[in-house]
Amino acid sequence: MNTTGIVSRMPLPGPLPSSMQLNEQGRLRHLLTIEGLPRALITEILDTAESFAAMNEQAVKKVPLLRGKTVVNLFFEASTRTRTTFELAAKRLSADVLNINISTSATVKGESLLDTLRNIEAMYVDMFVVRHEASGAAHFIARHVAPHIAVLNAGDGRHAHPTQALLDMFTIRRHKGDFTKLRVAIVGDILHSRVARSQIHALNILNTGEVRVIAPKSLLPACVETLGVHVFHDIREGLKDVDVVIMLRLQRERMEAGLLPSEHEFFQLYGLTEERLALATPDCIVMHPGPANRGVEIDSRVADGPHSVILEQVSYGIAVRMAVMGMIMGGASGGGANA
Ligand code: NCD
Repeated sequence: MNTTGIVSRMPLPGPLPSSMQLNEQGRLRHLLTIEGLPRALITEILDTAESFAAMNEQAVKKVPLLRGKTVVNLFFEASTRTRTTFELAAKRLSADVLNINISTSATVKGESLLDTLRNIEAMYVDMFVVRHEASGAAHFIARHVAPHIAVLNAGDGRHAHPTQALLDMFTIRRHKGDFTKLRVAIVGDILHSRVARSQIHALNILNTGEVRVIAPKSLLPACVETLGVHVFHDIREGLKDVDVVIMLRLQRERMEAGLLPSEHEFFQLYGLTEERLALATPDCIVMHPGPANRGVEIDSRVADGPHSVILEQVSYGIAVRMAVMGMIMGGASGGGANA
């Protein structure tokens, strides 16, 4: 059996029963998807992250909330920001962290994903942070782990990336406050983006004034309107008067051949330039989950310019991941670092 194992054949999961990630008291037990999370819970995560964000700016960046707990980073797919910020978040909560390198693990010697899981479980661990190229992988693992182990989805195929969406909501809230008055545009490869899917759910749960997607038809999922977005194919029309613009990478590793003529042409039609950004509101913020491809979806002058909050997103990722881990395993809430 290859690294992907059983989960590679699983279809994109439909809406989860909320009991899959919430316990009987409505508290987070796993975090697999944004879909179906109550607004109050998302707000509580963002509030809890506020206190961790303040702590991350102090000289001593550590609290004992998860002392004695073991967090396992199980990454079957490449990652820089997400893996390192999950690791830092766990360490700043005083957990022990294990990074399992899948390319050198026993799964490449033919051990199945479930056998690998069972072996790591036998080491008395408390949380799995999972990234996998197959949509549904985190759900699969959550269904099969021992009942005391929590699972955090760090990105599954093109399905969901809930902590990325939460850190993006945190960034937007810090800059803009009230979501109900905002126009937010997500631009580029929506079709292959787990980030976009999770962002759209989060923005709608938070009652965002208007959520737009801007992309060619070939990079939009079928019936994307049913997710609660307005669709634009012309970037100039789509960017008009938006308060937030979120750029996405062309995710070639998930693309079938022939979807796009060329990166150069994509930039001509959909690249974010200073001139196009001028169509948005004067204090519009520019976001990108990274990795950003300069000259493909975003001009360097915009990526490094005064509207860009791309590096803030990275910093806030630590606080938001601390909040989620602290709420699931350490009883943190609202007061976060003081809990
Ligand atoms: C994203 C991902 O891996 O889904 N990046 C991230 O987690 N920061 C987006 C991408 O790969 O384009």
